[in-house]
Amino acid sequence: MPTETTRRVYLLAHPAGHSLSPVMHNAAFRDAGIDAYYEAWDIPPEQLAHAVTRLREPRVLGANVTIPHKQTVMPHVDELTEAARHIGAINTIVNRGGNLLGHNTDAAGYWRALEQAGVNVRGQNVLVLGAGGAARAVVYALLQAGATLSLSNRTPQKARDLAAAFTALGETTVLTSQAALHDAAKQAALIVNTTSVGMAHGGVDPDVSPLPVDVLPDAGFVSDIVYRPAQTRLLREAAQKSLGTQNGLPMLVYQGAESFRLWTLEPPDTGVMFRAANAVLEAES
Ligand code: ATR
Repeated sequence: MPTETTRRVYLLAHPAGHSLSPVMHNAAFRDAGIDAYYEAWDIPPEQLAHAVTRLREPRVLGANVTIPHKQTVMPHVDELTEAARHIGAINTIVNRGGNLLGHNTDAAGYWRALEQAGVNVRGQNVLVLGAGGAARAVVYALLQAGATLSLSNRTPQKARDLAAAFTALGETTVLTSQAALHDAAKQAALIVNTTSVGMAHGGVDPDVSPLPVDVLPDAGFVSDIVYRPAQTRLLREAAQKSLGTQNGLPMLVYQGAESFRLWTLEPPDTGVMFRAANAVLEAES
């Protein structure tokens, strides 16, 4: 348990209940012999500014930031990395002597997850489903990696806005008809679901897919940022067609690993983080 001298890392969230980050990071701190403790803080929006002030205390290494604070926290930090500025969201804050740096490690986490899966997107057609916060990090990572992107979202204007925000990094075609979406899926070397469709939450039937099975390509890879359940219907149908698949757990672990490195200046053992996260997920199922 933490003592007076234990360094602290907080998760700023609302609600804070279901996050895997505390177990993942506390396992990694223990494994690395670092006297630090990660704790989720449930922070309603009106208390965000005060919570950020507390991150400047000397014993605090930094924080993670998640829903609903990833964008609204931006004006409260002192500096932003280029990725955080471009993506328009912070998921990690580092306290350097009372100065708060805002980072976004989601894009690096996604990129490393793809690399681990052996997927190289340079010059490849990639279809991204969704245009929310997670999509922005995924699109940033994919454009930096040299992919040619198509983007489809239930609300097309959000896809247009997202594409417009990233024109400096590369071309993104926004798909506004089902026919265009189906053509793009057929031709994609990689399909990424960044929407919450297929996620298990609040009694909603998770056995839905954001894409009809018959438009999945004959070869290639499908990644889903959802990790509850471990295999969404999209991934199950892709696997049945012998496509490569990856759920959202590697992105979660690798964004966490990058945040850990920024706080402690040491890379964690990601195997320890995977095992800690999987133990929680298995206990839930
Ligand atoms: P996150 O930060 O996790 O990306 P978000 O910003 O709320 O969360 O984005 C959720 C994404 O899932 C959006 O692209 C959303 O589509 P809209 O922009 O049209 O809202 C998408 N999404 C959520 N529920 C959906 C559903 N039932 N069908 C299709 N898309 C859905």
